[in-house]
Parts: sequence; structure tokens; C-alpha cells
Amino acid sequence: MAKRFVFIAAAALLASMFSSCAADSSQTSASASLSSVTEITTPKKVVKDYTVGEKEIMCINGGRLTIEDGVEFAVAGELEISENGILCVCGDVDITGNVKLQGGRIVVMEGGSIDLSGKLEIDENSSVGGDGVLNVTESFDDIVCGGSVTARICAPQPVERDGVTYVGDILLVNKKYDLPESYGNGINSDAYSAFLRMKEESGFDMTIVSGYRSYEKQESTFKYWCDRDGYEAAVMYSAKAGHSEHQTGLAIDVTSIETDYAETEEGRWLAENCYKYGFIIRYPENKTDITGYVYEPWHIRYLGESTAKLVHDSRLCLEEFLGLA
Ligand code: DAL
Ligand code: ZN
Repeated sequence: MAKRFVFIAAAALLASMFSSCAADSSQTSASASLSSVTEITTPKKVVKDYTVGEKEIMCINGGRLTIEDGVEFAVAGELEISENGILCVCGDVDITGNVKLQGGRIVVMEGGSIDLSGKLEIDENSSVGGDGVLNVTESFDDIVCGGSVTARICAPQPVERDGVTYVGDILLVNKKYDLPESYGNGINSDAYSAFLRMKEESGFDMTIVSGYRSYEKQESTFKYWCDRDGYEAAVMYSAKAGHSEHQTGLAIDVTSIETDYAETEEGRWLAENCYKYGFIIRYPENKTDITGYVYEPWHIRYLGESTAKLVHDSRLCLEEFLGLA
């Protein structure tokens, strides 16, 4: 751990906030740094509202810090949870600063909640679980998830900007939300790079059957399927112009648009692994009632690695994950 500086005053204040004894701490000096550090190494309970100030660092190293029911615990500075340390949330936690889990856990108990507008970094040995709620108030990019999140994630409300709908930073297009005619100009470069890396690492000869489609292209595509199969059938697998994710440049149809692609080795690999590259299977099996589309095992949507992992781990389709179903 880096040099840490603790003020006696901070420790004394903490003593009044914790139920039994003050957080473990040590005093040092010899620096102009204004930061103070509090270390928790044994079980402690926070029984009154408390804020880890902007210039403060709290470390839960192997201990357990319980935020009691009815108590608000704000993190404006930094909270590190490591070495199997646990933050047990029965009350409310408000994160505007940084929380880093490095081999630690947050357990949000039923009735407990976390409001996140700062950063929450969860490394591969860490988790956020429990029956409580993690409210993402601004952007899903505020969660950097290498580990697992099983607590229920609540998304912000959809917001429209220039005719485009976003939930947090996720661009949303579906049967309800559309795009302006002029939107889009090609495949998204991050999505394309991620696809190439996935193809390379998968060992499969994946091809892009369809990537970016303009509004006009979607219009003619939808008409083609309507002419071939009739409107009632076409509308279950083809989007009307303005309603296709392909217009965002973030969607790719991989290799084959036959349903039995799901049964191929490549299709199975894609379903199991695409989230590691930032994609989700956008129209999963058995979610037709919610997405409005039949199972499309080939259609992947780019969300970025961290968010794709959250959606994948939730086992929900995107509309459910965003609280819109
Ligand atoms: N096949 C999907 C729903 C689309 O047309 O965008
Ligand atoms: Zn598609």
C-alpha cells in the first residue's frame, strides 16, 4: 500500500460513528498530503450517517464493515476493499467517489441500496452480490466489471438526445425506440475491432453477413422480407426502417442467418464467449415476448466489454436489464 497519512481527528470522529471501537488506524506525518486513511481489519458497524470525504481513503482489508439499516454511508473519496474484505450494505451507500474491489466483496442486503455516480471497479476476484439494488444513476461505464455482479442493477430512465434514445450511455433501438433517418454512417470502429479480435481468437472463420445498414437499406430489406413472407412473419425477424440496430453500426450478423446456426460449433462458441469481446446476443431464445423478435443466434450487439459482461451475467435480454420490460 502507498504511504498513508492518518489524522487523529479523523480517527476520533470515526470512533463516534462506529458501534464498538474506532477503525484500526495508525498515525504518521511528515508530508503535506491532506489525505487521511482509515483501515478496517476487523468487523465494524456504521451506526450513524458517515462520509468518506473527498480527500480520504478507507480500506477494508480482510475485515467486514456493515452499514446498518437506516444509515447513509457516502463515499466521496476512495474506498478500497481487498483481501476478502466485505462491505455489507443494509442501509444506503452513495458512491460519488471511487470504490475499488481487489479481492473483496460488497453484499447488498435486501432493502439495502447503492447509488452509483462515481466509479466502481470490480476486479476478477471480486463481486457485488446480495438481494439489494445497485442503482446506476448516470452511465454503465461507471462500473468496470472484471468480476461478478449478481445484485440487481437498476438503470436510469431513457433519455432522448437529437432523436436518439439512451439509457445511461447505452444507445437503445427497438420496436418502441427508433433512430432519425439521417443517423449512422458505417460500422462502429470499436465494434469492428472487437469482432476481428474475436474472430482471430475464436479460431472460427466468422464472416460479417450484415453490419451497418442505412435507413434506406433497412427500408428495402424490410420490404423484401414482407414481399417474400408477408408482413406478419417479416415483422418478427426484420425491423422497420429506423428501428434496426444495424443502423447504429453496433450490430453484426455473424456467418449465417439460419436458426440452426445456434447448433453449430461456431454458433455455440459465439453464444458462450461473445460477451468477452463486448457483444451480447441481442435477441435470445425465449425472449420474443420482450424483444419482439424471434431468436437470432447470429445477431450480436456491441456494448463494450464491461457492460456486455453485466448483461451476460444477468441472463436477461437488454430490455429486461435496462428495466424496460
Ligand atoms: N433482424 C433484426 C431485428 C433487424 O432487422 O434489425
Ligand atoms: Zn442482425
